Amino acid sequence: MVTFKEPTLCQPASFDKRQPISGADMIRLVVFDAYGTLFDVYSVGEMAESLFPGQGAALSVMWRDKQIEYSRLISLSDPLNPMGSRHYQSFWDLTRLALQYSCQRLRLELTPAKQKQLMDQYSHLQPFEENLEVLQTLKQSGMRCAILSNGSHDMLNTAVSSAGMTGLIDKVLSVDEVRQFKTSPQSYGLVAHHYPTDIREVLFVSSNSWDALGATWFGFKSFWVNRQGLPFETLGPRPSYSGSTLRDILPLL
Ligand code: LAC
Repeated sequence: MVTFKEPTLCQPASFDKRQPISGADMIRLVVFDAYGTLFDVYSVGEMAESLFPGQGAALSVMWRDKQIEYSRLISLSDPLNPMGSRHYQSFWDLTRLALQYSCQRLRLELTPAKQKQLMDQYSHLQPFEENLEVLQTLKQSGMRCAILSNGSHDMLNTAVSSAGMTGLIDKVLSVDEVRQFKTSPQSYGLVAHHYPTDIREVLFVSSNSWDALGATWFGFKSFWVNRQGLPFETLGPRPSYSGSTLRDILPLL
């Protein structure tokens, strides 16, 4: 169990796709979000469509939204407990509960066999196509790379190895250690706990705009991978950087 220390906060850098980095702005560690950033959560939609024709897209979107809603509900309902939220359940369990809710809501019959198929698929999500090459380039350049995710250790380790990323990631950090989900400061604080690095030297990379915002508020430099050309949140500061694929982080490093 990791206890939480207040981070050193800093002003977010200005929003610029290609802002040069030098001196105090050096990036010494790249931390990736997992689900949605390295692994394509909507890739389960194909299987959902084959099991529930005409409902695959609706199911995969509702499933993801409900999973994240449950994680926030748990952390917001007991945010200051030094032992983590007393309502904590692993992200794997939340993923299953969110699937069950979404099927009830969409009036789809989720048999045990269908649930198993969808959950198995979730544990072997496809990575986005450029990701392996980017991680290999970072490894060759000597840059340290970690994952920080809501995912539980088991599901992350399975996803990392089935995507062929073992050896490219230095550490896989799970919020299981603090029993608080993103965007709690305890969750982002895990990076400072494991890496005695100034948090201003951390580039946090996420495709989830809310996660990029949470990381910016925490004090990291942030990179938003905007694959779908969406507007950024109207709330809060812009991320330090953004791009349309993971490849766009390379010129920064
Ligand atoms: C994660 C989810 C939130 O990997 O995308 O933390």
